[in-house]
Amino acid sequence: MSRVAYVNGQYVRHGDAAVHVEDRGYQFADGVYEVCEVWKGNIVDMPRHLDRLGRSLGELRIDWPMARNALEFVLTEVVRRNRVANGMVYVQVTRGVARRDHFFPSDDVAPSMVVTARSTSPKAAEVQAAKGISVVTYPENRWPRVDIKTVALLPNVLAKQNAKEKGGKEAWYIDVNGNVTEGGSTNAWIVTRDGVLVTRPAENGILRGITRAAVLDLVAREGISFEERAFSLDEALLAREAFVTAASTLVMPVVKIDDTIVGNGHPGSVATRLREAFHTATDLQAVVA
Ligand code: PDD
Repeated sequence: MSRVAYVNGQYVRHGDAAVHVEDRGYQFADGVYEVCEVWKGNIVDMPRHLDRLGRSLGELRIDWPMARNALEFVLTEVVRRNRVANGMVYVQVTRGVARRDHFFPSDDVAPSMVVTARSTSPKAAEVQAAKGISVVTYPENRWPRVDIKTVALLPNVLAKQNAKEKGGKEAWYIDVNGNVTEGGSTNAWIVTRDGVLVTRPAENGILRGITRAAVLDLVAREGISFEERAFSLDEALLAREAFVTAASTLVMPVVKIDDTIVGNGHPGSVATRLREAFHTATDLQAVVA
């Protein structure tokens, strides 16, 4: 079965899907995106993702490409047409197609919208989660508006590629104060020596992760001791546990930071418990849907 993409009003063969050479996303990274997890055919936390999409669009003064419920329909339809049971759906909205000029185009230029979906292997993800991943630190070098989920991901690409070349799966950004901000495409968490779960506040310096928000709900429900505050790399190196969260990884244990083994070098109990709780919660969403 061939893959299908949605491009500006049409469902097309993935191999034929294309945007105009003067799309502002292509020329200026003038666009935003969302990645949602698909679990048992259901798009996980779609309302929260669309709320954040709306916020990103608003911050950049890009119009919604269509009504919100129509967008929900397209996302669901792309998942359905690609027969994705478990995987991801991606939506990108840019300021549209116009002659190359830094200034915003006139109001009659419509935003462009692309949606793709693909399957991933839940089994491979569980194998990875059972082992945990290594992260490699990188100086924070992104613009201050990382709260907007823009497609301008070159710094993230470079940080993650550096991590990969050093045997890691993720980069951890370290700011000028020696604090961990977040991962190249994930939010960062630790469990301190005293058993307190810590993650950085989402006010600035990080993307307000949807998985982060869902995990915070679980933390409250499970009665896990928690502090929302900045944490330093030094504190992370001494931590009992570390993990990252994102729609693409869910709760993924971190067992090594640069050359330092975290805790006993195995996924920690808090991360494992939260990963299980996340699956239970998404199972419930799938049943309700
Ligand atoms: N990345 N921080 C950054 C920089 C991210 O790019 C992401 C998501 C997150 C986690 O957000 P969420 O929980 O909403 O997925 C944090 C997506 C998955 C990506 O770019 O592929």
